Amino acid sequence: MRKISGFVAVVIASTALAAFAQVKERPIPRIMKKDGRYALLVDDAPYFLLAAQVNNSSGWPAMLPQVWPAMEFLHANTVEIPVYWEQFEPRQGQFDYRIVDTLLTQARAHQMRLVLLWFGTWKNGNPHYVPEWMKLDPERYPYVVDKSGHPADSPSPFAAASLQADTRAFAAFMRHLRTADPQRTVLMVQVENEPGTGGNLRDYSAPAQKLFDGPVPADVLKAMQVPPGASSPNWQEVFGPDADVCFHNWAVAKYIGQVAAAGKAAYPLPLYVNAAPGTHRCAAWRDPAGPALPSYQDGGPSDNNLPIWKAAAPALDMISPDDYARDAAGYIKMLEIYGRNDNPLFIPETGGSPRFFFFAVGHQAIGFSPFGLDFTRIKEIPDAARPKEELLPPWALTGTKEFVAPFAPTYRMIAPMAREIARLNYEGKLQAVAEEPGKVTQTLSFGAWEATVSYGVWARYGRPAGNPQPMGGALVAQLQDNQFLVAGFYSRVDFRPAAAERHRRFLRVEEGTYENGVFKFRRVLNGDQTDGGLDFSSEPLVLRVSVTTY
Ligand code: DGJ
Repeated sequence: MRKISGFVAVVIASTALAAFAQVKERPIPRIMKKDGRYALLVDDAPYFLLAAQVNNSSGWPAMLPQVWPAMEFLHANTVEIPVYWEQFEPRQGQFDYRIVDTLLTQARAHQMRLVLLWFGTWKNGNPHYVPEWMKLDPERYPYVVDKSGHPADSPSPFAAASLQADTRAFAAFMRHLRTADPQRTVLMVQVENEPGTGGNLRDYSAPAQKLFDGPVPADVLKAMQVPPGASSPNWQEVFGPDADVCFHNWAVAKYIGQVAAAGKAAYPLPLYVNAAPGTHRCAAWRDPAGPALPSYQDGGPSDNNLPIWKAAAPALDMISPDDYARDAAGYIKMLEIYGRNDNPLFIPETGGSPRFFFFAVGHQAIGFSPFGLDFTRIKEIPDAARPKEELLPPWALTGTKEFVAPFAPTYRMIAPMAREIARLNYEGKLQAVAEEPGKVTQTLSFGAWEATVSYGVWARYGRPAGNPQPMGGALVAQLQDNQFLVAGFYSRVDFRPAAAERHRRFLRVEEGTYENGVFKFRRVLNGDQTDGGLDFSSEPLVLRVSVTTY
């Protein structure tokens, strides 16, 4: 993969162009907003990214036979796969499109859509995916300098040559997608990966210091709602103890904003950056409660640094949280932080309980993507030597069937109706909840009707006690005034009229599935299956429920 001759490049380019000539060009995927809600439009209709991300080193052709079967087993409709800058530009200015083309061809053959992840200047705060010719020339492509004057293992956001190189490579990649993908197999592109700098609040190099001692740009002052009169000549005076963090956020966002803008100009696909949760907070005065989440990459678009990113990187359509919270409250908190009026909610990486899917959909996410779901087991750990699950780093368990399996029932249930889920959510007709410790019943309001979701086997007899451990979830969508779509696991759903003097009567409860947007009736549920409410257990179950009152 190291060298690519001019002749080969011409042949590849002409093959791509010939293919392009034969394929009808489809509309470019785009993000739409209506009444404060967002949708990703694919082929001009809302699309839910029922996605999964492969392991970091699974984007190589030799690994793909262990990727597609996992995605098919899971019933994902979209796969997130990295594109490695070090592979894409092995020699400066020579771009190797072969792996991108392989991904396109194989994804189409497996009827999968792609979200491609540009592992460029930043990968988890490090520069580990930059090409070798950059790694060997740190003078030209410098790292962040720490407080004691030593280079850290993180790229400097002030490295003009790095910015120029990344911008050029990313634009070439996007330009190629534009010609090679008239089918729009690729729906979105992630720019960099968890950018920022672990262990250092900012770059303390001389050029960085000069800017730090200079004025805060007006767009940052505005974005961070700095009170009028507080503007002053330098970052320290404006942001006080948060100055380092605010400054680094602005620097990283500005850099990535330029990379994104160059890519967007080449091919206007939706672009996003993923956030490592819980970096230091910029402008803590806005929320004296202090950090909501643990610290990780500084300079990354986390928590209340989002306004700086929005101002400095307008070419990004979204800032998307990697939500690895393992508890319901933490998970929901992250969804609330990123599901903003100015930010569509997308979860590009997640782990934890499969029921968190319902939290994401309930917060109007346009997509959900557990991390590491392929079959490339990357570490063999003998069972006897295996420590408790919570002691293992997440990636030690990924790449196995056991890791994929927990998500499969949810994906199997949602896959045939993913378009309906996206449309109903976009139209504001869908609500979803999952079990939270201590909350055995949740109520969803649909105007004249309320839906109650309760958890635990005793829910059946009117005494909900919760499941032995939180595992339930349900979604309810209003199809017509008196008709609902209901689906879930380990829960019971019932309806009651909002008017207190009336009672619910099931008119018809149909079990079925969706095929090409049409509900396919399988049977009517009645008697024991409906008399006390609608039971959902471990098997995927989709119901179309018509109700009336007496
Ligand atoms: C988050 C990163 O974005 C991923 O690429 C991967 O490194 C995971 N962490 C590992 O758990």
